[in-house]
Amino acid sequence: MNKITIAIDGFSSTGKSTVAKQLAKKLNYVYVDSGAMYRAVTFYAMQNGLISDNDFNSEALIYQLSNINISFKYNKALGFAEVYLNDINIEKQIRTLEVSSFVSQVAAISEVRLKLVEQQKKMGRDKGVIMDGRDIGTVVFPAAELKLFMIASAQTRAERRFQELIERGDKVEYKEVLNNVQERDYLDSNREDSPLVKAEDAIEIDNSNMTLDEQFNKILQLVKMTIEDCE
Ligand code: DC
Repeated sequence: MNKITIAIDGFSSTGKSTVAKQLAKKLNYVYVDSGAMYRAVTFYAMQNGLISDNDFNSEALIYQLSNINISFKYNKALGFAEVYLNDINIEKQIRTLEVSSFVSQVAAISEVRLKLVEQQKKMGRDKGVIMDGRDIGTVVFPAAELKLFMIASAQTRAERRFQELIERGDKVEYKEVLNNVQERDYLDSNREDSPLVKAEDAIEIDNSNMTLDEQFNKILQLVKMTIEDCE
């Protein structure tokens, strides 16, 4: 069967990674979480004192980009690849609200994007890849055979993210999660370099009122149709 490239973009917490992981398992494709790469660079900046609540030394971060090596290693027990920063597993550390609160500033830096997009393009060279993010259908894989653009209301997304953080044991308030979701929507959509926009040929999926099963079946149908069209 022909292998295709699947690009999934959308606002934060629209369930992109959930459906991407389900699809990767079903199709035996590689799943790449591009947001994890921006989070890894952000984590590096935090660890090295380059970003804090009222200061961001973007010049130093750009200067130090060559020290940042991001990789993924498949974790069989989890069923997906975890992200490593300079060979250290940071999958858990990058999912905090603190990283979320800084990541959009880091993702707005063109030098950061250039480095990560180059790596992402390489990861997709052999097709059979599902990548999620903000600019996958527009910048990383503009020729992807299937592009999805996921949306859901800010409240629905904040509730989902809040539940995830609480289940991990993080102490957060719903209000701060909602604020973060809305702030990132704004920053990610209004930055100059590769803002979050729906690619012209992307199919919009509003999952505000869909169960996970309904969403998966709908998208799997789209994937099957696309693969048939390519044969
Ligand atoms: O998907 P996520 O919430 O883990 O992504 C974290 C941030 O990274 C998001 O707020 C914007 C940025 N990002 C990006 O600019 N481009 C991508 N392809 C993926 C993520």
